[in-house]
Amino acid sequence: MSHKQPRVLVTREIPEAGLSILRQCCEVTVFSSEQQPTREQLAALLPTYDALLTMLTDPIDRELMATAPQLRVISNYAVGYNNIDIQAAEELGIAVTNTPGAMTDATADIAWALLMAVTRRIVEGDAYVRAGKWTGWAPSLLLGMEYGGKTLGIIGAGRIGLAIAKRARAFDMNVVYYNRRRLDEATEQQYGLSYVDLDTLVRSSDILSVNVPYSAESHHLLNADLLARMKPTAYLINTARGAIVEEAALVEALRTGQLAGAGLDVFEKEPEVHPGLLELPNVVLAPHLGSSTVETRDRMAVLAAENIVRVLRGEPPHSLVTS
Ligand code: DGY
Repeated sequence: MSHKQPRVLVTREIPEAGLSILRQCCEVTVFSSEQQPTREQLAALLPTYDALLTMLTDPIDRELMATAPQLRVISNYAVGYNNIDIQAAEELGIAVTNTPGAMTDATADIAWALLMAVTRRIVEGDAYVRAGKWTGWAPSLLLGMEYGGKTLGIIGAGRIGLAIAKRARAFDMNVVYYNRRRLDEATEQQYGLSYVDLDTLVRSSDILSVNVPYSAESHHLLNADLLARMKPTAYLINTARGAIVEEAALVEALRTGQLAGAGLDVFEKEPEVHPGLLELPNVVLAPHLGSSTVETRDRMAVLAAENIVRVLRGEPPHSLVTS
């Protein structure tokens, strides 16, 4: 690094654990703790920065990157990086990094939290109690689903998918998965997984968990046709990206009883939520909380900051994203 400190723009306040690493070597500007910068604000700021630390809500396209001749690294504070045009960054010589591994357990936990909340009708029960409707124990009150012997289908058995599978073993579930590329036998054995094609997975799952990264290829992967092949007693859990599921088709499937329920942490047009989802009792909604634990956010902040420092020093980052 030159004697003049490199400048880092952080688009939202992140934990001090990460900011303090950046401050040791760089001049750090945190845009705001309250709101993300607009595209215009970013375009005005970027020309004088060497590094940018972004949130998954900051869309960074080619045009924006082209306004930043000094920019050497964009460190995304997320494992997903569909908010950044990776190919353009590569062409412009800007390294892009993400925070894989940091939120694996937190996201697997929230997938299970949603799964259990929707299948055991926790949110419905909470509303029922608060509304003063509960008159006492009843043999058929808010019956839910048991997990032992049921089939959990995982679309995308990467880090998070595998962590979800690991938890399923404690519940004596059968776990099937579909990936573009099949896992090696040792990993399948370690996690007790069976590989099936997408059609078999969708048809056989009692609970289907979506864990693929978002891309043009996975856009609306779970469309009306695929949703119609699910069991009417099945539940869908999405903790990946909203647009992997065709939200309007999901609403229709839930409304018509074609699907039993859904637990969703992500939505097609966040923070907008399809109004149909808001009306349905058989859906549990969370505001993209997958990585939101104190420990995870600290780990993400450290990793995102270290990635920046390493690139600015001319070292390979911990987690470089490539197209
Ligand atoms: C990520 O890091 O991509 C997750 O969506 C955060 O919850």
